[in-house]
Amino acid sequence: MRILSIETSCDETAAAVTEGRKVLSSSVYSQILLHKKWGGVVPSIAKKAHQERIDLVIKEALVRVKNSKSEARSTKQIKNSNFDIRAYMKNIDFIAVTYGPGLAIALEVGIDKAKELAKKYNKKIIPVNHMEGHIYSSFAQNSMSNPVRPFGFPYMALLVSGGHTEIVLWEDYLKFKVLGETVDDAAGEALDKASKILGLGYPGGPVIERIAQKVENRDIFKFPRPMRRSNDLNLSFSGLKTSLYYLSKDSNSMFKVEKLNDLASSFQEAVFESIIIKLKKAIEQTGVKNITVGGGVVANQRFRNLLRGVAKEVNGTVVFPPYKYLCTDNAAMIGVVAHYKAQAGIFVKNMKSFEREPRLSFI
Ligand code: KG4
Ligand code: ZN
Repeated sequence: MRILSIETSCDETAAAVTEGRKVLSSSVYSQILLHKKWGGVVPSIAKKAHQERIDLVIKEALVRVKNSKSEARSTKQIKNSNFDIRAYMKNIDFIAVTYGPGLAIALEVGIDKAKELAKKYNKKIIPVNHMEGHIYSSFAQNSMSNPVRPFGFPYMALLVSGGHTEIVLWEDYLKFKVLGETVDDAAGEALDKASKILGLGYPGGPVIERIAQKVENRDIFKFPRPMRRSNDLNLSFSGLKTSLYYLSKDSNSMFKVEKLNDLASSFQEAVFESIIIKLKKAIEQTGVKNITVGGGVVANQRFRNLLRGVAKEVNGTVVFPPYKYLCTDNAAMIGVVAHYKAQAGIFVKNMKSFEREPRLSFI
């Protein structure tokens, strides 16, 4: 079963062709450079960029399917040629698309395109929740079916991205239960805001990671670990941001690059450790020791090491997305979920009433 998947929930325009868990092609156009000067994602700019790029990204995904003859085509060739995708669509069984959560006007671009293609080529649409995609990203494989990673439900799934921070009990293929989540900012958002306060640019996560690798004492400022004593599994990061703001403005200490680096690193530690504290609590409460993680922040090596530490401590395991592009937004992960949805017979029944759900959560 071959699926063409489309993802436009935030600031990446993406399409992929998958077969089961195998990713045969994945095309991602990141809009980071367009949003950089605004210090965050601007929905209207995202929408326009999605509209401008979506056709090309889909063509790239269709043309670059691994093991197909046309694999070598360059973006320039694809852009300049006015070739018809009809021949490629013949090999596609279903179209999958992200319908939430995300930015309403950004999601719309992907959904409209999916509807247009479904109508034109007579395909069914598989609706996919973006967060399910991040959860499945650790189980995506390359075109040679690597890595071989059999499912071993249940998992403690941790989602840590720019829009979400959730601890989810992943009970079975399509069965999820949210155990805890952030009550304000997402972890990635907190890192992005911290970076802005410190004047380090956007997106903050990767910049702070780089800086934190340089400091001697990674937690010199010892920011609080918000909500550590609350019995629930929720998290909060907005207070941390306020502490950082005041510390960074502290007029008693002269501005020094070292201080800036120390602040960035300590802030990162506080964000990660707060998550680790609640993750351990979730494991303790449920007895589920096998961890799987997804979302942009999971690209961070320090965070990965902390998670490996948890797995060791509880005598469990942890799996990460096997390739870096699977951490941040992409359509391949959407295609992987879609495979299991198609197997379960989950398709869009009424095209007219199928719409974006910006606040979609797990059922
Ligand atoms: O999953 P994602 O691409 O988009 C959402 O669905 O939100 O995540 C983007 C977030 C941003 O906040 C970015 O700062 C963060 O992931 N991020 C990182 C790293 N790379 C991206 N955070 C920490 N360390 C990184 N290396
Ligand atoms: Zn995402």
